Amino acid sequence: MPAEKRTLLVTSALPYANGSIHLGHLVEYIQTDIWVRFQKSRGHDCVYVCADDAHGTPIMLRARQEGITPEELIARVAVEHQADFADFLIGFDNYHSTHSPENRELAELIYTRNRDAGHIETRTISQLYDPEKDMFLPDRFIRGTCPRCGAPDQYGDACERCGATYAPTELKNPVSVLSGATPVEKESLHYFFKLSDFEPMLREWTRAGHLQEEVVNKLNEWFEQGLREWDISRDAPYFGFEIPDAPGKYFYVWLDAPIGYIASFKNYCARTGTDFERYWKPDSDTELYHFIGKDIVYFHALFWPAMLEGAGFRTPTAVWAHGFLTVDGHKMSKSRGTFINARTYLEHLDPEYLRYYFAAKLGSGVDDIDLNLDDFIQRVNSDLVGKVVNIASRCAGFIHKKFGGRLAAACAEPALYDEFVAAGERIAELYEAREFGRAIRDIMALADRANQYIDEKKPWVLVKEAGREPEVQDVCSVGLNLFRVLMTYLAPVLPALADKTCDFLNLGALHWDERGTPLTDHHIDRFKPLMTRVEREAVDAVLEASKEDLEKAQPVAPAGPLAEEPVAETIGFEDFAKIDLRVARIVEAEAVPGADKLLRLTLDLGGETRNVFAGIKSAYRPEDLKGRLTVMVANLAPRKMRFGVSEGMVLAAGPGGKDLFILEPDQGAQPGMRVK
Ligand code: 2FM
Ligand code: ZN
Repeated sequence: MPAEKRTLLVTSALPYANGSIHLGHLVEYIQTDIWVRFQKSRGHDCVYVCADDAHGTPIMLRARQEGITPEELIARVAVEHQADFADFLIGFDNYHSTHSPENRELAELIYTRNRDAGHIETRTISQLYDPEKDMFLPDRFIRGTCPRCGAPDQYGDACERCGATYAPTELKNPVSVLSGATPVEKESLHYFFKLSDFEPMLREWTRAGHLQEEVVNKLNEWFEQGLREWDISRDAPYFGFEIPDAPGKYFYVWLDAPIGYIASFKNYCARTGTDFERYWKPDSDTELYHFIGKDIVYFHALFWPAMLEGAGFRTPTAVWAHGFLTVDGHKMSKSRGTFINARTYLEHLDPEYLRYYFAAKLGSGVDDIDLNLDDFIQRVNSDLVGKVVNIASRCAGFIHKKFGGRLAAACAEPALYDEFVAAGERIAELYEAREFGRAIRDIMALADRANQYIDEKKPWVLVKEAGREPEVQDVCSVGLNLFRVLMTYLAPVLPALADKTCDFLNLGALHWDERGTPLTDHHIDRFKPLMTRVEREAVDAVLEASKEDLEKAQPVAPAGPLAEEPVAETIGFEDFAKIDLRVARIVEAEAVPGADKLLRLTLDLGGETRNVFAGIKSAYRPEDLKGRLTVMVANLAPRKMRFGVSEGMVLAAGPGGKDLFILEPDQGAQPGMRVK
């Protein structure tokens, strides 16, 4: 039994209300959800809240582009987000929106308290303005030539080529991505939060164990550079809350976003009759945890505690950052099909596979985690299906066939059972410390131990020997009891499997502290398969469908090709030389039923014919391609796609849609010729 019952409030970062949830987001929601479910299983009072981050220029512009109001857009996205989260078994206790009455009231309160305490000042600044759209331009909506290295088509705040950061006014030849107009400089009064007023408090707070060590080191760099005042206002038109004493000025989205944590909790309190003040007063006896990505540390470890302190609210117990997700060792990429939306994944795969895989990879630090798809398939199949579920399926049949579904009257292996129970102490410490990968390793070692026990006892042999039936019941009952303990440990990661386990074992729940007593003389239900294997085809289908999603995606602002898909990691000449590029003649071209983007091409390589699927349907009619030459990667491993096997790839370039051009060699070239 944990020493005392704790009261915790936990949050994950609020997703923007203009985009879909993807696997990168899910690292955080799954991490937080596991931690919260663990706390609940331990008997603590733990509330998990989140909300959509609904304000800001991109949301306003996307709504305009779709011809709807921002309110309509955020209402639609809220439904989509919540369905994705529910289907990934993210168990929020409350999900709200930053565009809510609670958040307006709290943002105004936190602002006015800070203002009245002297932490807000105003100043006129000059910013780039789009004269055609009649609005100030956020940095990301301006592109131009880098003032340092001369790279063209860079964002208004930073150069992706040389890494320089600068003010948008320093950019050469700036262009508004909204209208293509040349922005002009215009002055306007802005409101600033005086972060430096809080420097002593922040220096102390950031070193008092509320943050991870890596984060503290990063913060030290920021302290050395000096804490700058923070611009918290934006001019109309803006989708957000108007600043109470400043008509036409709006709170910058990042001011009211974290306040959305409090607003969502307030909404929860109203719904459940929970005491709001108890959680947010400065000397609160409750714990407050924020799970975030490492890219938003500045907001959560500096601005946020300062704003709270300035307004007389409690500060967080801890802010925990995690790393980014890579897929097969690379940044998620739209063209590789590894930019995977939550919904696309769910259409083909069980959410618990991903929950388990992320858990197995997660630690308490800020390192990136890699979803290696081969490893994903192998690990889920071998650990969950091959080890854990296997224990139950090996034992349950005999209990039903021979003993009417009843477990033995006493545990035949108390020492082994106690070993499993005792291991829970360390596993609990690992969960508490967010060392999920290490917890999973311990749990799988126990699963191996349980399987080894069954292997040694061989109930399938005993059952055939006269007079040894009671031993079969003993062994299988021990096996099922060990399975129950394992599932208690895995329940925070695999809540659906835990529920099925409860049904099968005839239990109400799998509470951590109830594991100490084995089930004896207890009736269990008939065993139904608890989890099926991950199939390679399903994973391939996710990748394929993600490539097709790309076609549907509509960026708000037309980003340049480099921004959409930055140049990949450098490869050596040896790698390049491995690519065998050949001239090929397109002998057949046809549409692929059910695919929006693909054409099936039959390519003649000069004696050899290849079947290749190419995503060029938007740019070419099949009949126009027949007879033409192109260049293909001839030594690409065949790839199974939803529509058949693709035996190579043709080269094409362009922004997409109608502007996609296959590479065509001179008509004098011969099929099969090597391209160098
Ligand atoms: O970075 C983001 O996606 C933000 N929408 C996170 C906001 S977290 C909190 F501060 F609201
Ligand atoms: Zn540059």
